[in-house]
Amino acid sequence: MEKLAVKEMLEKQGFIDEQVDPKLNLVKEIKRLKAEKNAVILSHYYVEGDLQDIADFVGDSLQLAQAAATTEADMIVFVGVHFMAETAKIINPSKKVILPDLKAGCSLAESAPADKFAEWKKQYPEHQVISYINCTAELKTMTDVVCTSSNAVKIVNSFPKDAKLIFAPDKNLGNYINSLTGRDMVLWDGACMVHEQYSVEKIIQLMDEHPDAEFIAHPECEKPVLLLAKHIGSTSSLLNYVQESTGKKFIVATESGILHQMNKACPDKIFIPAPGNDSTCACNDCSYMKLNSLQKLYICMKHEQPEVRLSAEVIEQAKVPIIRMLEISK
Ligand code: 13P
Ligand code: SF4
Repeated sequence: MEKLAVKEMLEKQGFIDEQVDPKLNLVKEIKRLKAEKNAVILSHYYVEGDLQDIADFVGDSLQLAQAAATTEADMIVFVGVHFMAETAKIINPSKKVILPDLKAGCSLAESAPADKFAEWKKQYPEHQVISYINCTAELKTMTDVVCTSSNAVKIVNSFPKDAKLIFAPDKNLGNYINSLTGRDMVLWDGACMVHEQYSVEKIIQLMDEHPDAEFIAHPECEKPVLLLAKHIGSTSSLLNYVQESTGKKFIVATESGILHQMNKACPDKIFIPAPGNDSTCACNDCSYMKLNSLQKLYICMKHEQPEVRLSAEVIEQAKVPIIRMLEISK
């Protein structure tokens, strides 16, 4: 293929091959583009600290969906992962939604391909579906109500006690919510690659070395890890907990990006990332979230791409369970 044709093809897919002047003040340029284009920058707690600091709003998945639903900006710049940007487009389709890297996926969303899920669901014709927001737009079209880690209990409890329910795609969160609500939801077999890699043995060893530390965990972690935790909650819940606790030291089992906000909110406290099975990798970093960078943010705002595009049909169908979630979460 001609070099030019390859370039055009890549650009259509949202890849922009641009050399950025290393002397450029990216923060200043991003702020200029934001004002010029009437854009809002929404960041998840898991992206790098410099990206959290430049955002108009930093939050957990629910807070970000709420912010996307109510923004008056013309363009939403989503510094997170693809399913989050997709959710923003679904709930506010008149806005242009862009993200710094189209390849920023999610192992949970990828664990539940829509066609495989549809086939699997045929075994449970009477069941209603609750989907964790970490899933594709296509999966949301097959969903009754979406939930996040901060409202999952409330969403599940909004169904009658005897309702037959499927929870997808995170089996760990589903299992945890089953234990809290006394339900027996059928679980899709998906998991997050970051939250699945924690080592119970190494956490216990670290707790022994730091008897004054509180161990806290995100509910995407596996059950043996959750059983050790003093507090279990979504990213925003973990952040609130460390601020309210009288404790001075915390072992944190979730993606490392949250430590940026914890350190900012409590500079006098100590936060230790929970150890994983493999001490040679940076496994507490979500490789998808970490695809975002200031440079990619600048390039995407300058060219207004890659853009999230979804068919009107998918938006119409996927919007219903997200709006239900927002209504129940009020
Ligand atoms: P929350 O933002 O709901 O805590 O979820 C974390 C997560 O895995 C986002 O990908
Ligand atoms: Fe997905 Fe896990 Fe990364 Fe969150 S941390 S985006 S659930 S892979």
